[in-house]
Amino acid sequence: MSTLSGKPLHGKTAFVTGASRGIGRAIALRLARDGAQVAINYGASREEAEAVAAEIRALGVQSVAIGADLGSVASIAQAYVELDRFLLDATGQPGLDILVNNAATGLFAPTLETTEAQFDRVFDVNAKGVFFSIQHAAARLNDGGRIVNITSLSTRMATEGLAAYAASKGAVEVLTRQLAPEFARRGITVNNVSPGAIETVMNKFLQQDEGRAFVLGSQALKRVGQPEDIGDVVAFIASDDRRWFTGTTLDASGGSHL
Ligand SMILES: NC(=O)c1ccc[n+]([C@@H]2O[C@H](COP(=O)([O-])OP(=O)(O)OC[C@H]3O[C@@H](n4cnc5c(N)ncnc54)[C@H](OP(=O)(O)O)[C@@H]3O)[C@@H](O)[C@H]2O)c1
Repeated sequence: MSTLSGKPLHGKTAFVTGASRGIGRAIALRLARDGAQVAINYGASREEAEAVAAEIRALGVQSVAIGADLGSVASIAQAYVELDRFLLDATGQPGLDILVNNAATGLFAPTLETTEAQFDRVFDVNAKGVFFSIQHAAARLNDGGRIVNITSLSTRMATEGLAAYAASKGAVEVLTRQLAPEFARRGITVNNVSPGAIETVMNKFLQQDEGRAFVLGSQALKRVGQPEDIGDVVAFIASDDRRWFTGTTLDASGGSHL
């Protein structure tokens, strides 16, 4: 007898981009613990991604790690072909229930020194990648599905060196608002989760004492955010109870800069 049948996401399928580590990994594991079959994507970190997929399978659900550069539309298209195979193998059905656009590339560079190539890359992965991931997911998403885009506190709080990165995340927040009515016709919700500082490879502030003190000083909840804090928020949005919740940005920053 399956121990997963009473779980909130039992029978659902999910695709989490950028889940070889950090926040994406925590989201994928949380959705799997809630009973979903979870495909994950990675860019370069194949071994880490395969290990995450194995961790997910150990929870009693199916998983696969799909390599794709989300800065390339051709690569996104190929990833969704691989996702189709997984969905059919995992469930016998082609439908996807939950898409989490989490993959992103960081850029911490003074505005006056940012190159065109750096700017293009951050927008290609963080904004264009989300748009085309959603475009490719659209026909695969089941009615009543969920699209969750991971944005950033940087869209409401200015930090020197983050201008291009923050603008790429701001583009996603606008995209979410624009897409919510389109997808609402099918009962699919589109929302952003906006993390504050979370202890991962990407967050350079938390790797320095000064940055860590600044982050803690500006937060209402005085502790360093962990990837699991965001995984839990995404699971909250993914559940059936959150069906009346679309086009929004959920601040998940421990009450930063209130
Ligand atoms: N950490 C924070 O403080 C913080 C705060 C606000 C928002 N966020 C957002 O939270 C999300 C996760 O960030 P994180 O902190 O967990 O970062 P992370 O540890 O650097 O992980 C990023 C993930 O994205 C993948 N990725 C990067 N570029 C990719 C590409 N071109 N194609 C496919 N996958 C790619 C990486 O995989 P590979 O190594 O395999 O390429 C990795 O799995 C991002 O959207 C980030 O902007 C983070």
